[in-house]
Amino acid sequence: MSNQVTPPERKKITTRTLHGKKQSGGRISMLTAYDYGTALAVDRAGIDSILVGDSLGMVVLGYENTLPVTMEDMLHHCKAVARGAQYALLIGDMPFMSYQVSVEAAVRNAGRFLQEAGMDAVKLEGGLERVGVVEAIVSAGIPVMGHLGLTPQSVHALGGFRAQATSIEPARKLLEDAKALENAGCFALVLEAIPAQLAGVVSTQLSIPTIGIGAGPECDGQVLVTHDLLGLFDRFTPKFVKRYADLHGVMGEAFAGFKADVEAGCFPTEEHSVRMSEETWASLLEWLEGQD
Ligand code: KIV
Repeated sequence: MSNQVTPPERKKITTRTLHGKKQSGGRISMLTAYDYGTALAVDRAGIDSILVGDSLGMVVLGYENTLPVTMEDMLHHCKAVARGAQYALLIGDMPFMSYQVSVEAAVRNAGRFLQEAGMDAVKLEGGLERVGVVEAIVSAGIPVMGHLGLTPQSVHALGGFRAQATSIEPARKLLEDAKALENAGCFALVLEAIPAQLAGVVSTQLSIPTIGIGAGPECDGQVLVTHDLLGLFDRFTPKFVKRYADLHGVMGEAFAGFKADVEAGCFPTEEHSVRMSEETWASLLEWLEGQD
């Protein structure tokens, strides 16, 4: 008899799985991904959920902020991620102006993430002012994750990328917004760059999971931008990021190694080359001589 242990069967993560984790006190892990290869690696690492964030505008496309990102950009990257991830709950981030203009446009755009791009859910930013849109999308059968605190699509209204709800009135408002989003049907909430104590209160008062980024340890889960975690984004690293690698440095070394090898004639060698048979080579030489 084999004494090999069979690993537990892995199941597709759903919004119900995340609720179950909150109820049982388990912690939810979420990372961003924007391409097939990263999605594959994140999924294989057993991360619960992948967010195809509009942060791709900054870390992949090199924009100053997320405002220029379009629906077509998002769908393109979501499709690649869906091809790489089999188990994680896949969430597509609704870009600026895809849900603010009308409820009808918001429902139509949300639907495209599921129908065309293989996502399981969508995320959008904002509080009380988004309740109507959230209700309409949810009633179309599309799970919605809310996003409060530092909402990057409002960077100009907020006066920059800065911590939010650090004083009493904004803190109260954030709690009201969170409750309104829960009542509107959101299945989870991202809390970005808010005081840890406030995130703890929100997490206790809501029955849906909170996913923090710069919101302290008391959230029900944590999300990071994968490029920050890997040290791939060179422009700045927010205070709340923990870097687990320096891939920018690793890439730089690899590229310099390639350049040095090419310049020294050390690459390619036999092992990287294809050769024709001696017989074919002899025939080719004979034919070349006949050309003279
Ligand atoms: O776009 C994004 O990656 C996000 C996360 C920071 C939550 O919204």
